[in-house]
Amino acid sequence: MGSLSKAFRALGDPTRLRILKVIAAARLNVGEVVSLVGVAQSSVSHHLTKLKALELIREERLGSYTYYSLAVDKASALWPLIELTRASEDTHGDQARLSELLRRRDDVQTLNEKLLEPGQSWQLWSAALSTLLPRLDVVDFGCGTGTLTIELAHWAKKVTAIDKSESTLARARAAAAREGLTNITFLAADLTDLPMPAQCADLVVSSQSLHHVEDINAVLAEGARLLKSNGRIVVLELFPHDEAWVKQRLGHAHLGIAPEVLEEAMRKVGLEPFVQRVPWARGSQSPFKAFLVTGTRARKTPGRSKAA
Ligand SMILES: C[S@@+](CC[C@H](N)C(=O)[O-])C[C@H]1O[C@@H](n2cnc3c(N)ncnc32)[C@H](O)[C@@H]1O
Repeated sequence: MGSLSKAFRALGDPTRLRILKVIAAARLNVGEVVSLVGVAQSSVSHHLTKLKALELIREERLGSYTYYSLAVDKASALWPLIELTRASEDTHGDQARLSELLRRRDDVQTLNEKLLEPGQSWQLWSAALSTLLPRLDVVDFGCGTGTLTIELAHWAKKVTAIDKSESTLARARAAAAREGLTNITFLAADLTDLPMPAQCADLVVSSQSLHHVEDINAVLAEGARLLKSNGRIVVLELFPHDEAWVKQRLGHAHLGIAPEVLEEAMRKVGLEPFVQRVPWARGSQSPFKAFLVTGTRARKTPGRSKAA
């Protein structure tokens, strides 16, 4: 009885409960637990030590990793606690991330594609094909830490990389400097009101940024305003989903955006859209699936005008 009440008390800590819940579902190493619950490794290690001391989980060494798995079976007095843990509410979306992690781990094809460099590397293919593109003036909406910005800068004439977060821009700047790229201008600004002249861009890209902004029409209007005649905007967005935790944890303003809503919003600002509904995680259990919409700026846009 003593060990049961001790274990109950220990699981009063919500992070520890989340960790036990994911380990009850799969054998995991520390790095994997960190990626699932999103707290510092030192804190995860502390919780794992505590759970091990309570004999709720066990540790085993496999290759260069230490894995943790459930140490309790149905015959144990602690089993009701495991059942309660499993039934506890998943308010942070840990189980969706766990399904994705297990899918990747088991996906032999994905592993093969990673191993079979360079012929089947999609990153290399995209780099190779991008050399066929004309040297365009590109604007990257919500550039984040700059992964896409850097790929664009390898072939573009110049890239203006915009983000509202100064600290994120600093990381993007450092990544670009490491690659020796000198054709990127970083700009801290709000996508709904950009201090940039009209018709300065051939291409605007927005990769998973629009769902962060309440007023998507205002962002698209700015995109349309920046584009030269016949310029293109390419938006990568998430299909609508039910993962409400992303609002608080990741700052999303929308739970995905329906392609039809995006198309309609584009038309309103004078962009002619066509939609490629390409799910990125074909056949996976992930609730996050992406699609692309490309819009072309009509010769005259009804968008707001600002001095060029
Ligand atoms: C999910 S990240 C996308 C990063 C990158 N485009 C990618 O695909 O890897 C979204 C980015 O949009 C930025 N963002 C959100 N709202 C914004 C706004 N109103 N103005 C400028 N940037 C914004 C965030 O700071 C964040 O870096």
